[in-house]
Amino acid sequence: MKVLDAEFVKGFMRMADDGWRQGWHERNGGNLSYRIKPEEVESVREELIPGEWKPIGASVPKLAGEYFLVTGSGKYFRNVTIKPEDSFCIIELDGMGENYRVCWGLVNGGRPTSELPSHLMNHEVKLLASNGKHRVIYHAHPANIIALTFVLPLTDEAFTRELWEMATECPVVFPAGVGVVPWMVPGGRDIAVATSELMKQYDVAIWAHHGMFASGEDFDLTFGLMHTVEKSAEILVKVRSMSPTKLQTITPDEFRRLAKDFGVDLPEKFLFEKD
Ligand code: 13P
Ligand code: ZN
Repeated sequence: MKVLDAEFVKGFMRMADDGWRQGWHERNGGNLSYRIKPEEVESVREELIPGEWKPIGASVPKLAGEYFLVTGSGKYFRNVTIKPEDSFCIIELDGMGENYRVCWGLVNGGRPTSELPSHLMNHEVKLLASNGKHRVIYHAHPANIIALTFVLPLTDEAFTRELWEMATECPVVFPAGVGVVPWMVPGGRDIAVATSELMKQYDVAIWAHHGMFASGEDFDLTFGLMHTVEKSAEILVKVRSMSPTKLQTITPDEFRRLAKDFGVDLPEKFLFEKD
């Protein structure tokens, strides 16, 4: 089968286009990766032509030999559906998880996203934490969550609690909460280490003054997670724009009742009393 006819590739392209339409991908902002299933790799094998091995910039031994769909560095999400062969690629990792080679795509040159270390380190953490279920790592630049990183304390507790309060579905969609990475230089191993450390606990990591990472089992769940967090952030921005204080909100005990009825565990560290 041709790469562009494969369902997993169509799902990848649709998700990238959905993100573009949400306004989360100005210019080349954001990047997306998918850990391809072995049978999916085989289904497109006829089109895979391995290039040169190149260093990943991080070591991900548990991902040795895996294949990924990943957006290209400097490529625009806007163009993913318009010129797919130019915008993303399939890469294969070597037996040590230290080098990659492009096997398809990026026909006009270039390399996988500069955030490849973050993507792959997150994939490695999630492979273990989810028993292999998580396959999608998504980085976007949604305006409301970024805006909140200027006015909320940069703690997991402050962000999780405020986001949960903004919509009743939030604690059900991300019961583990969200992690926050302080401002760091993007594109390297250090921010990848910090992000993947948070991904051991959470499916969402917020990068201060930059954007957000989300992890999930498939394209729908991962896009839906990003969308839910950003929607909640948008409500908080509206609330704060109207008034510095809330007249009423969801209380810790109400969260506990919700957790019981919906069968989710909400960590008590997020259900603190506010003064
Ligand atoms: P890339 O174009 O290298 O994917 O970088 C975009 C980005 O959002 C960096 O954080
Ligand atoms: Zn970014």
